[in-house]
Amino acid sequence: RTAPPVIVAIDGPSGTGKSSTSKAVAAQLGLSYLDTGAQYRAITWWMVNNGIDTTDPSEVAAVVGKPEIVSGTDPSAPTITVDGVDVSAPIRGQEVTSRVSAVSAVPEVRARITELQRSIAAASEHGIVVEGRDIGTTVLPDADLKIFLTASPEARAARRHGELKGADLHTTRESLIKRDTADSTRKTSPLAKAGDAVEVDTTNLTLQQVIECVVTLVEEKRAGK
Ligand code: DC
Repeated sequence: RTAPPVIVAIDGPSGTGKSSTSKAVAAQLGLSYLDTGAQYRAITWWMVNNGIDTTDPSEVAAVVGKPEIVSGTDPSAPTITVDGVDVSAPIRGQEVTSRVSAVSAVPEVRARITELQRSIAAASEHGIVVEGRDIGTTVLPDADLKIFLTASPEARAARRHGELKGADLHTTRESLIKRDTADSTRKTSPLAKAGDAVEVDTTNLTLQQVIECVVTLVEEKRAGK
């Protein structure tokens, strides 16, 4: 018999290994994968490109429905397009990274992106791993399994630093902490651990160990434990 679709929510701050873990777990278990941070980055990229003042919530809210954002959910080749343009690379740049917290704090932005996320999850045939900040609390409160990844600020900054060639460690740490504080303290759907989430502290774990841990948790869920 085929297993029923399984919905896995993986939340946590940046630098905890969320994306690498989520992609690998989805690939190993034959599930779809959705990077919700990429969607917030994509809408932010469109705003920057169209001269929107991203510090003005009413200006942001007024254009929220304009860009068409499409996420490809294959974990071995995730894609994201805005009006048909592949933005996978530019959404990782400094400009978008420094503005995304403000844009994603706007309630109209969250409403639109949340709806998109729910429809993608509902359409997944075998199930999906959805990673973000508010997946277990707001987007998919009925997820079969909720994981909350944490790590010390030092470990998170060091990991981000390793990904960003040429950046200064101190600057990386400061900007990461600033973004996490903004994401955790915003009014609408902040970064938070759901009451029924399993917390995994990745500070002293290798990526492989985190992946194994999450795969085991999904398999136990599926076995009805
Ligand atoms: O995971 P990331 O760094 O690519 O996310 C980029 C930003 O998007 C992050 O600073 C906060 C926001 N975000 C959010 O508000 N809600 C989510 N579910 C995912 C990301």
